Amino acid sequence: MRAAMKRFIPLFLALLLTLQQPAPTTAVIEDVLDIIHVVKEVSTGILKAWDIVQASPLGANIDFPLMREKQKKVLQRLKEVTRQIDQTEEQHAEYVALAIDTVTSHMNLNAPMLAKMNDIGDTVNRISSRYQQMQKYEAHKDKLEMSTLVTFAEWTVSPNAHSVHHLMDRLHLTLFGSEEKANTTGTSSSSSLLAQLATSYEASTNEICNTQQSAQQFVYSLYADIALTELKAYTMMEFSWMMLRVYGKGNFTQEAELMRTDYERRTERTLKLLKDVMTRADRIVWRCDPKKHVAGVTYDEVTRLLQGYIENEVDLNNEETCRETCSFYQSTRSEGCYKDLYCARQPKCSGRLYNCQFVDSDMWVCPSPKNSTRRYEYIEYENGRTLGQRANCVRGTTKVDSWWRYLFWHCSYCFCMCDEQGLKSDRFFNLREAVSDVKRNRVVTGLRFVKKNRIFHLQIQEGELLPRGGINHTTLSWKPVENYNIFDRDVKKGTDYHTLSYESRSIDLDDVDTDDNSFVVTGVRFRVVGAHLNLEACYSEFDFKTGQLLQPEVNSYWKSNDNTDVSGDSKTRREKVSLSNADVSTRTITYSIPQSRHNQYIEFTNTGMDKDAAQSTVPFMDIQDVISNPPVPLSGIGIYYKGRNGYGGFLGPKIITYDFTPHVQVPKNKL
Ligand SMILES: *[C@@H]1O[C@H](CO)[C@@H](O)[C@H](O)[C@H]1NC(C)=O
Ligand SMILES: *[C@@H]1O[C@H](CO)[C@@H](O)[C@H](O)[C@H]1NC(C)=O
Ligand SMILES: *[C@@H]1O[C@H](CO)[C@@H](O)[C@H](O)[C@H]1NC(C)=O
Ligand SMILES: *[C@@H]1O[C@H](CO)[C@@H](O)[C@H](O)[C@H]1NC(C)=O
Repeated sequence: MRAAMKRFIPLFLALLLTLQQPAPTTAVIEDVLDIIHVVKEVSTGILKAWDIVQASPLGANIDFPLMREKQKKVLQRLKEVTRQIDQTEEQHAEYVALAIDTVTSHMNLNAPMLAKMNDIGDTVNRISSRYQQMQKYEAHKDKLEMSTLVTFAEWTVSPNAHSVHHLMDRLHLTLFGSEEKANTTGTSSSSSLLAQLATSYEASTNEICNTQQSAQQFVYSLYADIALTELKAYTMMEFSWMMLRVYGKGNFTQEAELMRTDYERRTERTLKLLKDVMTRADRIVWRCDPKKHVAGVTYDEVTRLLQGYIENEVDLNNEETCRETCSFYQSTRSEGCYKDLYCARQPKCSGRLYNCQFVDSDMWVCPSPKNSTRRYEYIEYENGRTLGQRANCVRGTTKVDSWWRYLFWHCSYCFCMCDEQGLKSDRFFNLREAVSDVKRNRVVTGLRFVKKNRIFHLQIQEGELLPRGGINHTTLSWKPVENYNIFDRDVKKGTDYHTLSYESRSIDLDDVDTDDNSFVVTGVRFRVVGAHLNLEACYSEFDFKTGQLLQPEVNSYWKSNDNTDVSGDSKTRREKVSLSNADVSTRTITYSIPQSRHNQYIEFTNTGMDKDAAQSTVPFMDIQDVISNPPVPLSGIGIYYKGRNGYGGFLGPKIITYDFTPHVQVPKNKL
């Protein structure tokens, strides 16, 4: 009897971790967002193994060659099963920055939540180490005693407090709450730990910075961690029952059946809850401020759109008179240079002058270096008021004094806003479209602003779309932006690019999104609506299962928010985000926070007079990459404004990740 048993040991080890090559029956799972699919595949694989075991006679009277044949088939299944789990886990770990054990260290959780997360981490580790142990037995398969395996199997399925069976129960209870309790108290899924984690993730802006995941992606990766752990546990238990049965320890059909029902019920409940939490979790990914702002690397600027400029009244009209006050001149131009006074010592503003005002008669002006886009570092008036930040003046200050003409007329130096186009004024936005390579099944996966040839472009990152919403990592690339110059022949203002000016300097702040889950973003562009730059997204139809775009040349369309600041009723009318008297964006010492909502707009304007002598143009443009990790197709894109009160802030793109909720299907057919 004992000798007979011993002969069986290698067989069962092989059953656990086979030497045989797997039959290429099931497709290899490539994409990460596919845990649900893996769970289904693995469960089916295990059941097929059971069919084989069950068809064999029990205990002593075994037809050995036939048994061996069946074992072969079983172990092929198991090999596939463990391979799929391992592979999925590897990919999951590679792409997902935030696993369960790092949640505790990154997020600001309250004490009870922290305790629960620690508990979950502990359980996950215990199950994983048992799973590894199972895999380790392979190395020693010829030397192991049968009793070792039986003990392992018994331990795995036994009803005591340390068994895998119990650990699985506990894991589920901690994360999703008790089912009975939920039924009797009527508490909804929102009280589950998963929902609470989603909420605190959305609340902590830092989180999105660290992980580059939308809240929905975060919830899904947590779920994936748990689902993989449960799958390991389930696999161990199934094969333990099989093992015990083949070793003649009993029939166990009933036990395995019970456990399976348990697992099914739990999976069903988990998926329901997951779907619920995912529906409510937001899908936006934006980019927070870098640790250090670096010009040309993390941000760039529109320059010299409206800029503080000093001019004497005598030069503000073409009759060389001083009969008015500064504030009389709300829209004028520089008409001359009377007697070559201060006007001859500074570069003239050749554009229009707006909103002139009188500050004080006499002043010291500190001019900026020749290569700067500023005109003045600071201006110090005799009455003590200083515009801009007073510092050591490298080029030396110039004294500028107003004067009296006869006794009646004061020829004052006014402080105006200069709107001058020229080589130092970068104020262009690309209007050509940026579309992914749909012929090669590429879709948009990320966005960033870039300034090229003095023109701002919204650049797209594209990647190959794979089945079930996956993106092929190795294909990710930033599509080069159009390389043209505003002075090139055949390049037209208003068609190829937009020029900001005093009258036309607004940009719409929108989220362009779709509810139709069969479309993803394949392109972006700006258009001009009235005096506003307005964002448009191109959508193309695709098949979720195959990951193929469906005739994108035909099934694509552009979408945008057509509301304007004068349109319709107060509900649809665009709201202005006001920005005035702001300091230079990069001078803030705190992190910017998003300040705008969908259906708003903001005007590019000068910085504050006192803070910066109105020398810079705000908001600045955030030029950091906005991508998600893992990369996913997008259901939307947007432009938003972030900043802090008193500072110019930044404009940046955001992405809205594809909504996977409809594809989280609570299984109808039994596993
Ligand atoms: C809880 O309620 C659901 C549906 O209302 C039911 O299917 C499930 O069996 C109940 N669970 C328990 C443990 O009472
Ligand atoms: C094992 O148990 C199941 C259900 O209890 C029963 O249907 C089956 O016949 C049993 N198998 C053997 C070989 O005794
Ligand atoms: C201007 O030139 C100086 C010295 O040539 C250099 O240090 C500085 O970085 C330049 N500034 C800009 C804005 O190019
Ligand atoms: C991903 O892209 C690479 C390079 O184009 C290709 O070799 C590979 O087969 C692709 N993977 C999938 C799953 O399509």
